[in-house]
This record gives sequence, C-alpha cells and structure tokens, in this order.
Amino acid sequence: MDIRNLYPGESDIPQEQNIDYIVQKEYLINGEIRTWNGKFHQVLSPVYIKTNGDLVQKKLGEYPILTEKESMEAVEAAETAFDSGRGMWPTMTVAQRIKHMEKFILLMKEMREDVVKLIMWEIGKSWKDSIKEFDRTVQYIIDTIEAVKDLDRKSSRFEMEEGVIGQIRRSPLGVVLCMGPFNYPLNETFATLIPAIITGNTVIFKPPKFGVLLHRPLLEAFKISFPKGVVNTIYGDGATIIPPVMSSGKVNVLAFIGTSHVADILKTAHPKPHRLRSVLGLEAKNTAIILPDADLDTTISEVVAGTLSFNGQRCTALKMIFVHRKIMPEFMRMLNDAMCNLKLGMPWDKDVDITPLPEEGKCEYLAGLVDDAVSKGASVTNINGGLYFGNFFNPAVVFPVTAEMRLYHEEQFGPVIPVAAFDDIEEPLQYVIDSNYGQQVSIFGKNSDRIANLIDPLVNQVARVNINCQCQRGPDVFPFTGRKDSAEGTLSVSDALRVFSIRSLVAAKENSVNKEIITDIVRNNKSNFLSTDFIF
Ligand code: G3H
Repeated sequence: MDIRNLYPGESDIPQEQNIDYIVQKEYLINGEIRTWNGKFHQVLSPVYIKTNGDLVQKKLGEYPILTEKESMEAVEAAETAFDSGRGMWPTMTVAQRIKHMEKFILLMKEMREDVVKLIMWEIGKSWKDSIKEFDRTVQYIIDTIEAVKDLDRKSSRFEMEEGVIGQIRRSPLGVVLCMGPFNYPLNETFATLIPAIITGNTVIFKPPKFGVLLHRPLLEAFKISFPKGVVNTIYGDGATIIPPVMSSGKVNVLAFIGTSHVADILKTAHPKPHRLRSVLGLEAKNTAIILPDADLDTTISEVVAGTLSFNGQRCTALKMIFVHRKIMPEFMRMLNDAMCNLKLGMPWDKDVDITPLPEEGKCEYLAGLVDDAVSKGASVTNINGGLYFGNFFNPAVVFPVTAEMRLYHEEQFGPVIPVAAFDDIEEPLQYVIDSNYGQQVSIFGKNSDRIANLIDPLVNQVARVNINCQCQRGPDVFPFTGRKDSAEGTLSVSDALRVFSIRSLVAAKENSVNKEIITDIVRNNKSNFLSTDFIF
C-alpha cells in the first residue's frame, strides 16, 4: 500500500458528503448575530486533494479573527445577562429554563447533517463517528434535562432540623468560559456548555483550534432559544482573545478541556484565584495491564480500539501497554496481525480505521517518538508501521518500550502503540504510581484474585479501572474525571450540574411569623427559589 494513493481527487469525493466553501462572518454576542468585517482565518481540512499532480489541502472556509475588544464585549454581555444573579436567566425557574433548552434541541436536530459534515471535514473524523458524536451530544442534552428535573424534584421540599426550616437548592455561579478540545469539538464543548447554561449561568464559548465552522449552523439556534447574553461566542487566536477575558476577573468558572500547560496559563491569569472554579479535562497516559491468563482475542480487539479509535486522538486512549512476558510472543503476533487489517482511508470511506491527522507537524512529532525509541533499543514490529506521508501516519507498534524512551512518558495522542514486557506486577503498578497522570487503567485477565489485588491499589491512583475493556468516558452518566495532572472536577450528566452550581439555602427559625411568611411566599408563587413546585 502506498499512502500517497490514499488521497482523493475532487471527483472521488462522494457528492452527499462534499461541502461548499463557507465564509462565516457571524458571531453571537448579547443576543445579536453580528457581522465581522475584520481579518479572517482560513480553515483547511486535514484531507488533501490531488490537484494537477500536487496534493492541496481542501479549503473549507473562513471564520472571524476577533480581537480583545470583541472578547471583552462578550464578557460584558455575559456579565450583564447574569446581572450579579439578578438577571432573567439566573432567577428563572428550572422548569422555564428547561423549556428554552428543549427548544434548542429541536433546532439543533435540524442542523444534524450540516454539523456532521463539518465535524468530518474539519477534524478528519470518520463519517460514522461524526454522526455518533452529534447523536451522543443530543442524547447528552436530553439526559441533562432529565437529571435537572430529578435534582429539582429533590429540592422542592422543605427540611426541618433543630427548629430550623430550610429549603436547599442549587444556584448558578456566574459567568462561565467554555473551551472544548479539537478531538470532540462538539461533544466535549457541549459537555460543559449545556450543564453550565441549564443551571442558570451565562456563557462565553470559544470553539477549539480545529472544529470551528461546525458551530456556525447552531448560532441561530442559540440566539432563538436563549435570552440575550446567555450564550456568547468568540473566535480567533486563543492566545490573544482569552487572556484578557481571564484577567478581567469576571469569569467565575473556567471549563476547559485541553492541555495542562494552557490550563495553568489561563488559571493564573485570573486575578482572584479563589473566586474561580475550574473544571478541567487534561492529558492522560492510560495504561493497559495484560495478565498472563488474559483472553487474547478480547484483549487484542480492545487494545486496537483503545489505542487507535479516531487515530488515538482521545484523552481516554490507551497510551502504554504492559504485557506479561509469558504471553508476549503470542500477544505481539496477534497485535501485528490486527494492524494489517486496519483500513487507512478518507473519513467518508466505509469502515475506515485510520484517517489523516489535523495537527500540523503531528506525523513528524510521532515519528520523532518512534525514532527516539528505536535509537534506544526498541523496534517497530508491524509491517509498514510508522511510515508516513503528508498527514497520514501508518500506526506503529513499538516494542520494547522502556523508561529511557520518550514514548514511555509522553502522551502521544496519535496512532503509536508502545508495548512493554513485565515479569513482576510491581512494574506496571509502579508505572501508574510514578506517572504524572491519573485518568484510567485497563486490566485484562481472568483470575479474579489477581484482578482484585490490582483493583484496590489502582482505584486510589486513577479515576476508573476497566476490566477486560479499553478505557473510555461513556456511558456519559458515569463520572468522568482524573487524578494528578489529568483533571479537575468531575463531568457526567449529573456531576456536571453540580460542578456549575453551588448549594444555596433559605433558612428560618420555625416560629409562627416565619411559617406565615414562607407559606405566603410559596402559596402565592412569590419566589422562584423558595417554592415547592414539582416538575413532572
Ligand atoms: O478525549 C477524551 C474524550 O473524553 C474521550 O471520550 O472515551 O468517549 O472517546 P471517549
């Protein structure tokens, strides 16, 4: 197979998945879709097209390069809409906010085809996985609404303790800055945006570096569905437009999924660190530990999916594989065979496994990791492993990877599979303990005693231990978090609602005057907070 031949000509692109050039001039601030007349950033797809004997990146469109002025206008709009907690949105009943969100879902669904196409073209995700990302996001919003109802129902009653009457609910925190990653540009942006909005906060959101245009079809839906200033979008160079937003001190919650390096810069830019709550999804180096009695059919299929889904560009991807030496030959034989069955191709190709990578210089970075390992004694064990051309990287299995090599420590975030052999279980355990990251691990084996002996120490090192399956975020109702440099805060349908809100209560001594006041407020619906209304 010659990787060069994988790139299509314009006429090879299926018509139903092809796309017209989009010039996005619009951005949403304070309920207005404004028109940008300044500089634009050109969006190039990771898909190169054969053009007159050359390979040329497909041009997808343009989006505004806003300046500090517009990003600060977005902050002001969000701040005004929150109005120190007195705004229409934060004081609205939960039931009313749900109605707005339901309207948004209806409008969002109408945009499915446009958004899916843009996910595929902007980040090179397969057509099938782009559809999955859209549908999973819609389901996430639906589940969030159910979780909000549930939370509200539990709060729609009074508590009586030690002669005090109290009603405890959750209140919003203020202005939230949401920034998602390029690998899940819709889903992971919405995984923070939606819970932030529905709990009564106001939001500024900046799409990731790849995956910007796909948000455009939803701008109108945001404008129609929510009161002005509740959702504001900014575009452009993050290093220019985000620091002023943070240093204004007006952001109450930073919801960021990306690198710890950028997260640290953003957090330290805030002048009042204790007023800032951070919800962060950061790097990971999730480890698979393959025990001598592992079922190798299951293990190989999970390891392949775990390391290579979306080209290994998942924070949850398996990024270091420890295999017991006893089964190493068989494991390597089966893994190398599985590599031969991978289908490299274009995102629209049926059953494609590996697609072009969007980040500039990524293949060179991955090749650098492989070269470093090879120079220190490892080999690439699969046929054509590590060969690359343009932005296509043929997955590489690298063995034996040891502590002197960069691949042992660095998060490759791409299609390279580092494998190490172990004799003593202390070796992979110590690896997890010494790692800067603490998201998840996967254990493969059959012996319940051995597995149990690993579970107990590992749950205190990472935030999820998977048995005989790859690491992953879903189901989305499960808590998704990490220890050490992997995360701050927990995301899941219900946890996210807690992350973006704080418990507030109204309390009064249980005497006749207070009872009368409370009864009058509740009976005559005088407050949206102090209320026993039950959402059915
Ligand atoms: O990039 C990290 C994502 O949260 C991974 O999610 O496990 O569903 O692919 P996933």
